[in-house]
Amino acid sequence: MPDARRIHSGSALPREAFPRADAARVERAAIALARELGDSKVILEPEALVAHAGDESEQDPVLPDLAVLASSPEDVATTLRLASLHEVPVTPRAAGTGKSGGAVPVCGGIALSVLGMRQIEEIDVREQLAVVGPGVILKDLHDAVEAEGLFYPPDPNSLASCALGGNLAENAGGPRAFKYGVTRDYTLGLEVVTASGERLAVGRRTRKGVTGYDLTALLVGSEGTLAVTTRATVRLLRRPEATVTLLAYFSGIVDAMRAVEAIVASGLVPRCIEVLDERCVTAIRGEGGPLDDRAAALVILECDGSTSEVERQMAEVGERATDGGALEVLVAQSAAQRERLWEARRQLSYVTRRMARWKISEDVVVPRMQLAKLVGEVRRIGEREGVTMLSYGHAGDGNLHVNLLWDDEEHVPRVERALDALFRSVVALGGTLSGEHGIGTSKAQYLPLEQGDGLIELQRRMKAAFDPRGILNPGKIFPRGRHRSC
Ligand code: LAC
Ligand code: ZN
Repeated sequence: MPDARRIHSGSALPREAFPRADAARVERAAIALARELGDSKVILEPEALVAHAGDESEQDPVLPDLAVLASSPEDVATTLRLASLHEVPVTPRAAGTGKSGGAVPVCGGIALSVLGMRQIEEIDVREQLAVVGPGVILKDLHDAVEAEGLFYPPDPNSLASCALGGNLAENAGGPRAFKYGVTRDYTLGLEVVTASGERLAVGRRTRKGVTGYDLTALLVGSEGTLAVTTRATVRLLRRPEATVTLLAYFSGIVDAMRAVEAIVASGLVPRCIEVLDERCVTAIRGEGGPLDDRAAALVILECDGSTSEVERQMAEVGERATDGGALEVLVAQSAAQRERLWEARRQLSYVTRRMARWKISEDVVVPRMQLAKLVGEVRRIGEREGVTMLSYGHAGDGNLHVNLLWDDEEHVPRVERALDALFRSVVALGGTLSGEHGIGTSKAQYLPLEQGDGLIELQRRMKAAFDPRGILNPGKIFPRGRHRSC
């Protein structure tokens, strides 16, 4: 597993730097923080700050002026109260595995790490819920609830290294979202600290509840711009009795997408429908993956439920895939084989990074019946601009990670044109810019392609209601310009 916090080797797409936080204010805040929290929780040494500078996106890391290692909600409240008092920007972060620059402290200031709050505080088997700190690693939550016969479905591919705080901030998804939905669908309630340092409990612990505005839904996916989560109550399901994984080979990505469209339209609900195009297949072969020579695109289908349901679904899904032109449909024969297949899929983001000097990984979504059109557009844009593009991802949800790869700095203008054309095509197809990675800094400038001025302005006013001084995670979501960001 690569180091989530490594400093990237060079800027993918050059972007103007944000102005840094005012040095005198930062100094006053640092002194006050060290006094109230103790020196051990306030990091000032540049070598140690490197760990709080970047994420797993292509955004350049930026060193914060200081980092706070919070180990309790009180620490978070103290940090935000003092940051607000001294008007110093705060960038919250958990495990730093985000894919859109959300945890990059673009203006310097304070990086507020919640990774130390890593307690699974409660698993209530009878109510089917868990209460967790934002520093809990997702896989630890999966393992803990599964040991009790329960199931927490969200499964971003970074599940072994990502933390719940980041999952909540970005409303993380993953392959199983096709059947089960995303982080927001499993979040019952949150304890948060607002920008001024006030502690609030939003949402509930009950299955049902409609009291007041649904601030839980608003805060999940708000990318750390509205409040900092210190505890979450998440809904659990019963662990499915059986799981079966199928691998379908296709002679091309357009055929594969048509088959996915047919499976989705038939109303069948396997838990995952993942697609990998030809370049991804080649990359997996390059890593030693034993794939049939004829395969130029893959669809991974996974069914779960009771043993009898799974058998029935598996037969139906396999039949649809064959009708849709699959050259062959294989069933994983053992848990180890299943795990190897998923491991190859999970590693794609890292494997494709090694394919070129620079890579941009996108996260677009189109209506599922437009998938074949989208991959046609991707091919046309790549050919027109002379940029290598590949696609893989959560096709059942219409969510594709379109990657742009290049080796020559001179190609940056082409890449920018290709990216712009991709987003315009996605919006024209009735789609959206991000399915699960968030807007962060990487897509902020493109937000107006999808959302009108009135809607963006309303969201800015909502942000101002939560964070009147504009200190929380500046530079994220909104295009730069008229708003106060640092
Ligand atoms: C994936 C990450 C990039 O699906 O979201 O591999
Ligand atoms: Zn993904």
